Amino acid sequence: MQISTSILNSLNREESIKKLNYTKTNYIHIDVMDGLFVSDKQFTINEIKTLSNISMKKLDIHLMVENPNNYIKELSNMKIEYITFHIEVDNNINNIISTIKEKDYKVGLAIKPNTDINLLKPYLDKIDLILVMSVEPGKGGQPFLETTPPRINKIKELIQDKDILIEVDGGISEKTIEKITNADIVVSGPYIVKSDNYNEKINILLQQKTSQ
Ligand code: DX5
Ligand code: ZN
Repeated sequence: MQISTSILNSLNREESIKKLNYTKTNYIHIDVMDGLFVSDKQFTINEIKTLSNISMKKLDIHLMVENPNNYIKELSNMKIEYITFHIEVDNNINNIISTIKEKDYKVGLAIKPNTDINLLKPYLDKIDLILVMSVEPGKGGQPFLETTPPRINKIKELIQDKDILIEVDGGISEKTIEKITNADIVVSGPYIVKSDNYNEKINILLQQKTSQ
């Protein structure tokens, strides 16, 4: 299992990245919000550029925006592994997938807690990752939704033996991670970045075996 640390709720994002550089986190999770898809607005392109320069880890970009292409086209030549956008956007999903691939980044599709998982089906041959939301998108620090574990298992069945990773995002701490199976990457925010010992928290999460 891999860890992607969300710095959304960090009080000093640059300092957090400098500290995360020396931990076992695999990725830095960046929650981009446009004030439309969700009510908050977070992370300007310039801020992402600065953070990419500071980071020794690859970024894991989670776009909670109505118009992903507007953001993707600005995200060239950065230390990015995944760009993930929401299947709920009222937009041409195939076109957005192509825009990400043209930049040579891996493609993720995110799905909110109440969205029909069958909507993912047409895209399973084109994506690298499914980001399963375990809270409603929009803010950090929300409680983990108990409906998530059976949903992850159903998504795992849906993808069968395809080469797609499952990432889980929202409310993950040492109390909730034990409920998760079939996850390849877990996102965790304040549990790590609001603690005074990032290494200790990341190591606690890594001790849980969430994938087969
Ligand atoms: C929620 C975001 C999450 C969030 C994670 O909209 O997508 O990535 O920052 O933070 P916690 O761990 O507090 O849920
Ligand atoms: Zn996120």
